[in-house]
Amino acid sequence: MSFLSKITRWLQKQNAVMLIYRSLFNTYEKHWDFHARSRQSTISHILSGVKSEEEFDRKGRDFANFLKKMIRPGSVVLDLGCGIGRVSQFLVPHCTEVHGVDVSGRNIRLAREKCRGIKGLFFHKNNGRDIKLFADNTFDFAFATLMLQHLEKEDALSYLLEIHRVLKPGSSVYLDFLNILNTWNLKMFINHSKRYKYESVAKLRYYTKNEVRALLNAIGFKVLEITVDIYIRVLAEAVKPG
Ligand SMILES: C[S@@+](CC[C@H](N)C(=O)[O-])C[C@H]1O[C@@H](n2cnc3c(N)ncnc32)[C@H](O)[C@@H]1O
Repeated sequence: MSFLSKITRWLQKQNAVMLIYRSLFNTYEKHWDFHARSRQSTISHILSGVKSEEEFDRKGRDFANFLKKMIRPGSVVLDLGCGIGRVSQFLVPHCTEVHGVDVSGRNIRLAREKCRGIKGLFFHKNNGRDIKLFADNTFDFAFATLMLQHLEKEDALSYLLEIHRVLKPGSSVYLDFLNILNTWNLKMFINHSKRYKYESVAKLRYYTKNEVRALLNAIGFKVLEITVDIYIRVLAEAVKPG
């Protein structure tokens, strides 16, 4: 067999591998459960590049310190796409309750194990699309970090509507989205599009600042702050009749 045919065969095999992967892990739940087969595996998929659980937790604590300035004492908080509680474990001392929600049953199990004994911290597995397990006007604050970027835009929008529903009137939400106009993100997007024919269900989705603002406004949020670098980071208030 010539070198060229060998290469062609190999490439065909890669496509087959991607097709098999795609058909086996064709839902958010299956994808994230696959990566959550052990604590080490999920840590490296939640935060790529981290070298240890200590580093993973340190970054979680830093992020909780950033969020706590947005939260009033006594608040009930929602952490959507909570993973294994990286952020919530450090946020809960500043609130009354934190409820972490995740589509991956394995992540939820790992979160309960990791955060055993922490008072006020609760974890729930959901269906990957809504948070109907919570009544309207339940939360004083909500956040979703490193999560919406992995969803189809329709699914992200459905969650934004849900967040609006479960927030008390005048309460706020912190969200982050990947910025398509950032040079690095644009390069990653183009490279990814060239390389992969069969995409993962959790592939990255990108936004512009104006797009995020328009979506949030249309749902009934008032954008309070918006900063843009590699991420579009937003603090928005749920406007609704009190
Ligand atoms: C990159 S991790 C971020 C985890 C956590 N927010 C953190 O910063 O440590 C993305 C998380 O979102 C969860 N997730 C992905 N799609 C979801 C969906 N449709 N509904 C709920 N959770 C989802 C995954 O299981 C995973 O735990």
